[in-house]
Amino acid sequence: MFVRNAWYAGALSGELTTPVGRTLLGQRMVIFRTESGRAAALADRCAHRAAPLSPGVVVGESIRCPYHGYAFGGDGICTSIPGQEKIPAAARVPAVPVVERHGFVWLWMGEAARADESLIPDFSSNEKPGWAGSTLHMHAKSSYLLLVENLLDLSHVAFIHGGTIGSDDTSAKLSLERGPDFVRSIRASTDIPTPPHNIAQGFAPRCDQTKIMHFTPPSTITLEITTTERAGPASKSMHILLHNAMTPETETSCHYFWATTRDFQIDNAGVTAFMHQITTKAFEEDLTILDLQQANIDAAPDLPMVSTTNDAAAVAARRMIDDVLSREQHTVAA
Ligand SMILES: [Fe+2]
Repeated sequence: MFVRNAWYAGALSGELTTPVGRTLLGQRMVIFRTESGRAAALADRCAHRAAPLSPGVVVGESIRCPYHGYAFGGDGICTSIPGQEKIPAAARVPAVPVVERHGFVWLWMGEAARADESLIPDFSSNEKPGWAGSTLHMHAKSSYLLLVENLLDLSHVAFIHGGTIGSDDTSAKLSLERGPDFVRSIRASTDIPTPPHNIAQGFAPRCDQTKIMHFTPPSTITLEITTTERAGPASKSMHILLHNAMTPETETSCHYFWATTRDFQIDNAGVTAFMHQITTKAFEEDLTILDLQQANIDAAPDLPMVSTTNDAAAVAARRMIDDVLSREQHTVAA
């Protein structure tokens, strides 16, 4: 069961050089860019004989089915049938609202009338002047909820990411803020070993670090990480905004879209490449353990799990998702 009235990342802007076929919230979708540059998303099933549209091609403002050549516009209405003038009214496929923003293609998978662009999460540093970064789409064989938990409980960093972005920050001071539509967790560390990727960039061996995890339901999180070396008055500092969008594929798998962005050395392509490579490696470390965690949960779904202080933000986020879901179910029932 998923929250439907929400914006979900369906693709990265850079992926739409050809149509993308992707299962989102259990529904097979095709996401494509028309020749005028507009992003659109339809059910990935031709209204004619149910062939997938995603292996087809974009022709003008339509996508053309690879099987018999029927074409459908971004609104899902059939625009042409080879060898036939008349187009039946039933020749249409479901379409969902799409907004492209900050390098992400956002899909509204619920009631179209409720799609409100002001609810799209603020990933603006991915495009803003004065910032640089890169994006990636990954696939996780685990529920999006495990990834939400992973990003809200960074006590795992010391263990999973010791060779990449992590160091022993288990002494961090934790604080939690809650609003009607966000959970924010702050993890503040003083005088900890500098993580390997900062050492690789010439940082001193000890640092102070603050990590702010800002969650908005159902499944986006921005991590703000500030790392300052302990090297006297001229200490180097690094400031990163890491945007994460976890879109359910099925109940036990998800798409993971992220953008790592920074406001330092923005013209240095070497730093961009390094940050991309180290972030990819770190997130592969996460997905490896999450896949195993999901397999264990699937093997014994009713066994309990113990929550501790470190889990406060994740528990609050889960509760918020459950509340949104139950409000949505009640509205549907009413
Ligand atoms: Fe991690």
